[in-house]
Amino acid sequence: MIELPFRFRRLRRSEGLRRLVRENALATDDLILPIFVEEKIGQPVPIISMPGVFRYPEAMLGERVARAWSKGIRAVILFGVSHHKDVRGSDSWSPDGLMARMIRAARAAAPDMVVISDNCFCEYTDHGHCGVVDGEQVLNDDTLANLGLQALVAAQAGVDMLAPSGMMDGTVRTLRTTLDAAGFTQLPIMSYSTKFASAFYGPFRDAVDSGFKGERSSYQMDIANGREAVAESVLDEEEGADILMVKPGMAYLDVLHRIRERCSRPLAVYQVSGEYAMIKAAVAAGVMDERALVLETMVAFRRAGADLVLTYYAEQIADWLRAG
Ligand code: PBG
Repeated sequence: MIELPFRFRRLRRSEGLRRLVRENALATDDLILPIFVEEKIGQPVPIISMPGVFRYPEAMLGERVARAWSKGIRAVILFGVSHHKDVRGSDSWSPDGLMARMIRAARAAAPDMVVISDNCFCEYTDHGHCGVVDGEQVLNDDTLANLGLQALVAAQAGVDMLAPSGMMDGTVRTLRTTLDAAGFTQLPIMSYSTKFASAFYGPFRDAVDSGFKGERSSYQMDIANGREAVAESVLDEEEGADILMVKPGMAYLDVLHRIRERCSRPLAVYQVSGEYAMIKAAVAAGVMDERALVLETMVAFRRAGADLVLTYYAEQIADWLRAG
């Protein structure tokens, strides 16, 4: 026997001991399921790059949300695929537009579900950018004015939380002021506070059928920047964001950790379309175990500092957790 300062393996000897000292656990309560809805389709359309994920007809959204509820999912985020696109994305702030209708349908289908709207313009503009364009530029303050209109329509439709994802400066402050002035002081904002211009969103563009071939580096963050990533979330917290977010997830665990150390608001992480597609591809190739892989990524998010996870795997994870 050799003398050692400490033997870590003593607490690894049985499942009971391991569970007793486990630092991070995952719960279905902390998951948010993204749902895609497309106008003018009759049947769910599979998203080829994201096996198992579909765009649903509006008429089936209620059913879809009810199914998520029955599987234990308690929060959904809605993405609309508009067939009424224009240069400004005005359908998104029409009281009878797709965003408002989705919120009302989800709300009616599962009254206690936390219904979150993704507040952006890229699924509603004919050019596919996340705001008002002037040539190749996306105009920050003009976009914020429209975002305020969109937020009010979502609020009036009964949304439980807004999730602005467009990366315009001053988003949270503008929304908070607009909402408060209209009496929506109790409506929380989950800001996509630190969102990178990432190649991992590739399949999402397929998902929302945006045909968008441009890039968003003039508003989304440079993937090389860690200090700035922290500053973005710090500022959103100061502006009054109720929940912060890092997006994408797996390649940005350092950023998650740094924000966790600096901010006190709940922190979400978005496991994005490309992360989902990569895991699916690895599983399809027979080189990795899906359940183990997905649960490992989830625990990694928790360990890095995430409280909440937006993931296309939400329902599947709920099933796995229930099965134990
Ligand atoms: C829209 C938006 C995007 C995603 C969420 N909201 C796309 C983008 O910024 O290009 C990506 C989600 C995913 O990839 O799963 N602003």
